[in-house]
Amino acid sequence: MENNFNEKYDQAQDKANKEILDKSKKEMEKQESSKSNKKDEEESEEDKQRRLQELVLDKHTKVCLCKAIPRLKIKEAIANGADTVEKVQKATGAGSGGCGGRRCTPKIQELLEKQLNQ
Ligand code: FES
Repeated sequence: MENNFNEKYDQAQDKANKEILDKSKKEMEKQESSKSNKKDEEESEEDKQRRLQELVLDKHTKVCLCKAIPRLKIKEAIANGADTVEKVQKATGAGSGGCGGRRCTPKIQELLEKQLNQ
């Protein structure tokens, strides 16, 4: 009689332990997935902010001071297929100002190298 009780008690204990273990596992999986989701959201939000800041800076940063050509226009020209300084200058009008391109040509070259190497 006592043995039977002990067996049943052990079985019930094993079952309860298993249930607790399963619950813990599920909770941990939930927490991990929500953590990774939050991380992804934060990263994507960070990326959005970074891209927005870069866009604003590109709009307001003048590459060619003489002609007031913004970096955004230079980047667009490169994205549209201008792969040399001359092509970028022809597409944007940069380099045709008072300094004859002495100030903006190195910046255009730098942007070309940076954008074409991505
Ligand atoms: S800065 Fe571009 S022509 Fe002078």
